[in-house]
Amino acid sequence: MEAAAPAGEVLIGPVTYRVVKNDFEIETLPPVTVKRKSAPVRVYRIIRAYDEDRAVPELAVLVGRDKELALLHDALTEIATAGGRSACISGEPGVGKSRLVKEFSTRLPPGHDLVIARCGSFETDTPYRLVARLIRNALGLGTRADEAAARAALADGTVSDRPLDDASVRLMLEVLGYGQGSTLDPQTKHRVVVELLRRLFARRAERGPLVIILEDLHWVDPVSAAVLAQVAPQLMDLRCLLVATSRPEWEPAWPAMRIALQPLGHEESHALIGGLLGGPVDPVLGDALLARTGGNPFFAEEIVTSLKE
Ligand SMILES: Nc1ncnc2c1ncn2[C@@H]1O[C@H](COP(=O)(O)OP(=O)(O)OP(=O)(O)O)[C@@H](O)[C@H]1O
Ligand SMILES: [Mg+2]
Repeated sequence: MEAAAPAGEVLIGPVTYRVVKNDFEIETLPPVTVKRKSAPVRVYRIIRAYDEDRAVPELAVLVGRDKELALLHDALTEIATAGGRSACISGEPGVGKSRLVKEFSTRLPPGHDLVIARCGSFETDTPYRLVARLIRNALGLGTRADEAAARAALADGTVSDRPLDDASVRLMLEVLGYGQGSTLDPQTKHRVVVELLRRLFARRAERGPLVIILEDLHWVDPVSAAVLAQVAPQLMDLRCLLVATSRPEWEPAWPAMRIALQPLGHEESHALIGGLLGGPVDPVLGDALLARTGGNPFFAEEIVTSLKE
């Protein structure tokens, strides 16, 4: 792959593409022949990093997942009367975890508040990365917001009903990536961050039911994981639904309803492939594609895209 890349360009293969496709604008190049591979491989060129949390257009309408959506909606109904709920959607890469939470979160009844934060594949070693995204998104602070904007957001009463003390403000700014201003020791930092997150979400949930979606927790940085393990159980006292997504290797450290997302079934896969191809599919072709994709929607999209090319 390196040999095929002109100077200053980053070329990636299909595996990397799958991991980073939502984070970068990527151009599909003609397949190339690389060392040690007999068949040409698909190659992609990274153009630029996307803005965080941009809307990703979908290739096909949603098929199936009625049962899983109903489980999430039931949990949402319960938080109105019975305190917090937590769900964890786990499944193989490409099986449709993100799509499921996207469908769920775009159909929230009016009056529901939503905070979404994602872990990145290249950020697993960055302490407080997920926590920082969570705070940013809860405060409506874009990644380009400067320190003054962050200070203003921290002071405007969203985090807490009482003003934050100086040490907490410095710590929050540090967690958000504005320098290393905090003089607190690591244990105190951890304790204060847990407390501030709890206050932030308690305040949010006072105003109305709150849905928090944490995506791709298999990539969570360990510091955020430790914070989350303490904050998540406390959210269960609030009108809050916490939904996590992850690949199967990650397990939540708190009680959660488990939704193990399975590949699409026969009918659903045919419907998806038909949707992707833009019309009814010959059953023999449909079965052949299903055999290749195993009901994984991402693979179905990949195979149909390459068929069309
Ligand atoms: N039920 C579905 N109907 C139609 N398209 C779907 C469905 N599920 C997933 N897709 C599409 O398949 C692709 C892969 O799905 P998605 O990104 O949700 O997978 P994922 O499980 O989140 O994978 P990863 O572990 O890589 O994050 C997306 O383009 C998505 O829109
Ligand atoms: Mg995903």
